[in-house]
Amino acid sequence: MVQTVTLSDGHTMPTLGLGVYMNEECAEACMVALQNGYRMIDGARYYENEVELGVGVAKSGVKRKDVFITSKVFHADYTYDGTMAALKDSIANLGSCKSSYYDLYLTHSAIGGKEARLAAYRALLDGKASGMIKSVGVSNYSEKHIEEIREAGLEMPVVNQVELHPFCQQKPIVEYCKKNNIVVQAYSPLVRGGFDNAVIQELSRKYSKDPAQILVRWSLQRGFVPLPKSSQPERIISNGQVFGWKIEPKDMAKLDALDRGKEGAITWNPVDVE
Ligand SMILES: NC(=O)c1ccc[n+]([C@@H]2O[C@H](COP(=O)([O-])OP(=O)(O)OC[C@H]3O[C@@H](n4cnc5c(N)ncnc54)[C@H](OP(=O)(O)O)[C@@H]3O)[C@@H](O)[C@H]2O)c1
Repeated sequence: MVQTVTLSDGHTMPTLGLGVYMNEECAEACMVALQNGYRMIDGARYYENEVELGVGVAKSGVKRKDVFITSKVFHADYTYDGTMAALKDSIANLGSCKSSYYDLYLTHSAIGGKEARLAAYRALLDGKASGMIKSVGVSNYSEKHIEEIREAGLEMPVVNQVELHPFCQQKPIVEYCKKNNIVVQAYSPLVRGGFDNAVIQELSRKYSKDPAQILVRWSLQRGFVPLPKSSQPERIISNGQVFGWKIEPKDMAKLDALDRGKEGAITWNPVDVE
């Protein structure tokens, strides 16, 4: 039974997804994930593997309607027409799994300036109105970028996807999203493999779980939607074995204490752009 969260637009989204950035074996990874309980795949135009993602969904044998597929428009396409063309191309890329829509489509970052990102966002809302997208969200947005959407009188995003793991907890953004009923997706939840840390190792031993499982479980228990990436079938499977057990509150507090704010970021994390 897949755990889901209800978005502010009424759609439901799985609480765990497979990330496919730099996923050399994207079709295989998506197939393995879907055959082992995952129901969400986090793609993006920038990853240049939407076609393979569609192939993986088709090969998995899981029905398209039971899979939640995300993509993101990159800032190079932030004009209204550029974003609309990108969206149409993304849908064509899902040909193998015969999909005429995305479950979620995000603006990939706030890079490009206010007018450009609002133009892209408007195109996504029109894509939603015409059935090409079910839910619209943003990625790497801080509070000020989301407030621009409200000030423009547009529908608010239902998701904000940001870098999020114990070392970089994005507290102001998370707090803002909570208040505004925006679900936070956690990217790079495994710190890109950088989990050689005494607390994580200690909890890994205590719970007899991989460090990666401890990180995914922390994210879930904090109410985030983690998107761990792996190209290796056995890791994809183990990273998804994060239900039916819990990290105790005192151990959650130890992980919480690892926060180093923006210093703890290990990716581009462009949440402060003008
Ligand atoms: N919106 C954005 O700007 C943005 C930015 C970055 C990422 N994302 C999304 O978030 C997803 C995840 O983030 P990410 O790819 O940056 O990093 P991540 O999921 O934190 O870490 C992936 C790295 O961890 C390794 N790994 C996976 N499982 C492991 C395990 N059980 N034990 C040891 N190592 C393991 C992977 O190697 P192997 O593949 O060899 O297993 C890979 O090198 C991306 O794929 C993408 O979908 C979004």
